[in-house]
Amino acid sequence: MRFLVTGGAGFIGSAFVRAVLRDFPTAEVVIFDALTYAGNLSTIADVLDSGRVKFVPGRIQDVASVEGTFRSFPPTHVVNFAAESHNDRSLLDAGSFIQTDVAGVYVLLEACRKFGVERFLQVSTDEVFGSILEGEFTESSPIEPNTPYAASKAGGELQVRAHVKAFKTPALVTHGGNSYGPFHFPEKLIPFFIVRLIDGKKVPLYGEGDQIREWIHVDDHAEGILHALMHGTPGESYNVGDVNERRNRDVVSILLEETGRDESFVKKIPDPRKGAHDARYSMNCDKLRALGWSPKREFIASLRETVRWYRENEAWWRPLIATADYQSFIKRFYGPSLGDDL
Ligand code: TYD
Repeated sequence: MRFLVTGGAGFIGSAFVRAVLRDFPTAEVVIFDALTYAGNLSTIADVLDSGRVKFVPGRIQDVASVEGTFRSFPPTHVVNFAAESHNDRSLLDAGSFIQTDVAGVYVLLEACRKFGVERFLQVSTDEVFGSILEGEFTESSPIEPNTPYAASKAGGELQVRAHVKAFKTPALVTHGGNSYGPFHFPEKLIPFFIVRLIDGKKVPLYGEGDQIREWIHVDDHAEGILHALMHGTPGESYNVGDVNERRNRDVVSILLEETGRDESFVKKIPDPRKGAHDARYSMNCDKLRALGWSPKREFIASLRETVRWYRENEAWWRPLIATADYQSFIKRFYGPSLGDDL
């Protein structure tokens, strides 16, 4: 098997590569990644050291780079993790989201059609379904995204659907829940709050922190994607979540405890997402469980372990939060509400 993992230098993509190397000792792997702010060679230093993985720099929306890679390394399996993925950034500027999450998926699908592959898997998100106050999303829930990010992911997976119907492309889609764990870029709730609390800074909780997210450990998520790739049926989609719904404020309480900070470190700010802030995500994952996958990591213990990982791996995240891009995003997005606490 020859795996082409686009976005493999990012958070979930790198966990997926580690799962492939562990489960398939003879598989060949190419990581194709644009190394935007959220993808880093330091995230994949260990897998590159293994000598079994080749790294190719490139953007998935760049036809020449994608086709060149397919030509020099004809893959049997292509898994696309490459994406702009932060809702708050998409509220400031969604142009790059459309380029990567919609146009990029189209370029990959066209390459799969031209060169032929055994499987293409598009990694998507439960956020394409919008918000659900009661019950759970299933794979056939209506696609009703509420943010520019979620809409761009919906656009990508609808391209996959069209290629399955029109060209019989052997493609699948997974919808992941909110992931947490090591190597998570410090802008999403959990890693952002961890690094600020370690540094003794206040953390900006949107509103009262009433929203509910279904959290899954990144390794469980990566293993679920690999299971869907190997055992799923082309043309189908699979939800990959844990039955682990938590209110934001309850997640934050655990982070405070583990970093030794108290409630005075939480600054409630007016909700910057306004009407686009989904109240609750919850997925039914019976379809993938019926194929033999189930998540294994317990949330509270794994979240505490994640905090410890950030404590022990400052060399990984300190350079990331020191960049001009990071500083300018934080200032632009949180400056007005955090003021002196920025
Ligand atoms: P996030 O980690 O950005 O993931 P998503 O938007 O994909 O769910 O946010 C998780 C929740 O945490 C969401 O309800 C928004 C909230 N949140 C805050 O309260 N403060 C923050 O600074 C961030 C980034 C998120």
